[in-house]
Formats: sequence, structure tokens, C-alpha cells
Amino acid sequence: MLISDSMNAAINEQIGNEFSASLQYVSIASHFASETLPELAAHFYNQSEEERDHAMRFVRYVVDAGGRVEIPAIAMPKADFKSVEEAVQISLEQEKTVTQQINDLVELSLKESDHITHNFLAWFLTEQLEEVSSMQDLLKVVQRAGDTNLLFVEDYLARRKGKAMSKPAPLAT
Ligand SMILES: [Fe+2]
Ligand SMILES: [Fe+2]
Repeated sequence: MLISDSMNAAINEQIGNEFSASLQYVSIASHFASETLPELAAHFYNQSEEERDHAMRFVRYVVDAGGRVEIPAIAMPKADFKSVEEAVQISLEQEKTVTQQINDLVELSLKESDHITHNFLAWFLTEQLEEVSSMQDLLKVVQRAGDTNLLFVEDYLARRKGKAMSKPAPLAT
């Protein structure tokens, strides 16, 4: 096995965190869909897919490293939101929390002189920078729009489509 038992356990925990983020985004996206905010809904369904992809990257890594995948129980995502701003604020907090979780994994890899895992985690650090930054931008736009002008947010997301930072190609299965 290329990773320690403690690294394996920490990554399994992170697989749960990424699936949890994915479910939270489905919950937020479906709320927006119910409110007939199709661009916001599509954006968050897409974010949910990305979080699932993150979870699967960790799953594949554990398998490749000869470890054992054990997915922890996932808590129920929050399902009611007072406003668009609250839902986006929750999303931003979630991205900051995940960034801290990835930082903690990097710390563990340094402590264990585990350069293979350290190298693997570099992709996630870049990804978190992009995700926190774009969620911060979205929150600012939502705050500027206020509750009465949500079509401005819809327009922002529609215009931003196709201008997103280029993503790495999806992993082969
Ligand atoms: Fe993620
Ligand atoms: Fe994320």
C-alpha cells in the first residue's frame, strides 16, 4: 500500500465530505428549480456533478494506492432556504470548509513525507481557489441584485456560461 492507514482513513473521510457537498448542491439546485430560477438551478446541478467528480477522484486514488475505500455516512443536506443569498452564502461557507479540509490533508501528507499524496492533492488546491473565488463572485452579484432583481443574477450566469475557466479533462474511468 502506498499510503498509510491514517492517510487512507483521512481520504475516506474526505470522500464523504465531497459527496456531502454534492448532495448539498442538489438540494440548493432543486430549490432554485422550484423557484423557477433555471440558470441558478443549472449552475448548482453542475456544481453537484463537480463535487461527485471530486469524490470519485479520491475513490480512484485510494484504489490506485492499494488502500481500502470506506464511505462514511452522509448527513442530510439543508433543504430550506430563506433567500437566494442565504443559499449562496451556505455554498460559499461549504467551499471554505472544504478548502480547510484539503489543507489538512496536505498537512498530513507533509507530516508523513508522503510525496505521492502531496502531488495528488495539488490539483484540489487549485480547484478550491477557483471554486471559492467564483462562489464569492456569485454572492456579490446576488447581494447587488437583492431579492427583487433576481433576473439580474440569472442573466449574469447565462452570460458567464462558456467563459468559465477551462477545466481539466474528465478522468478516464
Ligand atoms: Fe469538492
Ligand atoms: Fe467545491
